[in-house]
Amino acid sequence: MTILTDSPFHKPQLQLDDRLKKRAVEKILTKLCLTHENICKIREVFESEMRLGLARNSYRPSSLQMENTFIPKLPDGTENGDFLALDLGGTNFRVILLSLRPGQEGDFLVKYYSVPEHLRMGPGEQLFDFLASCIYHFLESNELLGNYYPLGFTFSFPMIQKALDVGILLTWTKSFNCSGVVGQDAVKMLNDAIARKGNMNVDVVAVLNDTTGTLVKGAYTDPDTAIGLILGTGSNACYLERIDRIEKWDKPGVTEVIIDIEWGAFGDNGVLDFIKTDFDRAVDCNSLLVHSFTFEKLFAGKYMGELVRHILIKLCREGLLFGGAPSETLLTFGSFTTADVSGIEGDNDDGENTRKILRRLGFAYPYTDDMLIVRHVCAVVTVRGARVVATCLSSLLDRMVKPEVTIAVDGSLFKHHPKFQRLMNDFIGDMLPEQKFKLMLAEDGSGKGAGLVAAVALKLREDSKKLIAKDNL
Ligand code: GLC
Repeated sequence: MTILTDSPFHKPQLQLDDRLKKRAVEKILTKLCLTHENICKIREVFESEMRLGLARNSYRPSSLQMENTFIPKLPDGTENGDFLALDLGGTNFRVILLSLRPGQEGDFLVKYYSVPEHLRMGPGEQLFDFLASCIYHFLESNELLGNYYPLGFTFSFPMIQKALDVGILLTWTKSFNCSGVVGQDAVKMLNDAIARKGNMNVDVVAVLNDTTGTLVKGAYTDPDTAIGLILGTGSNACYLERIDRIEKWDKPGVTEVIIDIEWGAFGDNGVLDFIKTDFDRAVDCNSLLVHSFTFEKLFAGKYMGELVRHILIKLCREGLLFGGAPSETLLTFGSFTTADVSGIEGDNDDGENTRKILRRLGFAYPYTDDMLIVRHVCAVVTVRGARVVATCLSSLLDRMVKPEVTIAVDGSLFKHHPKFQRLMNDFIGDMLPEQKFKLMLAEDGSGKGAGLVAAVALKLREDSKKLIAKDNL
């Protein structure tokens, strides 16, 4: 089936009667509208960065980490037992109890704890002590304190994994920047904090990324799942790679492994500079970790609203929007969010949402042209985001050569943006007309997935014990 991605849905058109103004706005937005050549080049550099990231000796470092997750095996539905799962990555931390019974969906108990800014930015030990007290609170309030639980820890930051239960933090991202954690093993820090808190019979058996949790959760319900994708505050993907294509590690006895790409940092070495706009640079300059996470900052939830805000300011300053006078609110960092982009993108013909959002920004009586321009900017930024994600996903699908692939997706951008999913779907379909694929919401991938990975970890431990016992016979 050929999908026409030339429609206004895929190529937003600005409908203004004032032709001069229309042209002036379009000129400012030109670089955000990717050309066919841009897309081909993104695909090319993504593929070469992946190859470099997997190579044993590369002539230069890749911006794609291509990290080993040490998960060579997906759950097969025979998992049995109760597992604790932790999910840390956004401003909410979750503790989850997952009860798995063969052939059943599994029961799920969850509690959310908000992580205040002083803990996200303070000394690391305090953050881990907080996590341990949340686990304690969860167990105590559910009258589970005496029980033993294996625990899977979703720690959604770039790690160097040395084993399934060893994850060295490479750098913080998103809204975290605690001291004393970079270069340390997050599992050890968590275990130490659990020991300091005392009275808990909990064993951290696995540490994983949220994309991995999402892939594993997806595979539990749909065995064709081979890619895990997060479109949330940040963005990243992982996929099942054939071991013979990974030069950098020797892994005898294993045929496949999940690779955490860490594509948020794609382009940090300059390979994406050809699509970067002044607006992207402005978003980067105002972010917590400047000059990093180039790809993620093009569209992820933490940044998309900011990107639109910078474009609106520029249009204002050029006298093309809001009578040339930006409001104090518009000039304030964070005043326009990705949820606002979603609200505007999902607006009805009367423009109710757009009007409400503009009123909040200090524009109580916007002209029709203003409304049209704001809606157009949101559409252009959305399309660019969906395009770049779809381009990288197409590369992955192509690389895997599987007849049918399900892409398990989680994250607020995917769930709440009214157009992102359809756009991605259409763009991939356009690039790979022969490939069968499906984008599937794997809700709570990072939570339930961590419980499932803990179950897989236990199975792997049992398998290796059996092997050792056999060798000793
Ligand atoms: C950031 C993190 C990555 C995570 C992603 C989505 O890019 O570096 O590990 O998967 O956010 O949460």
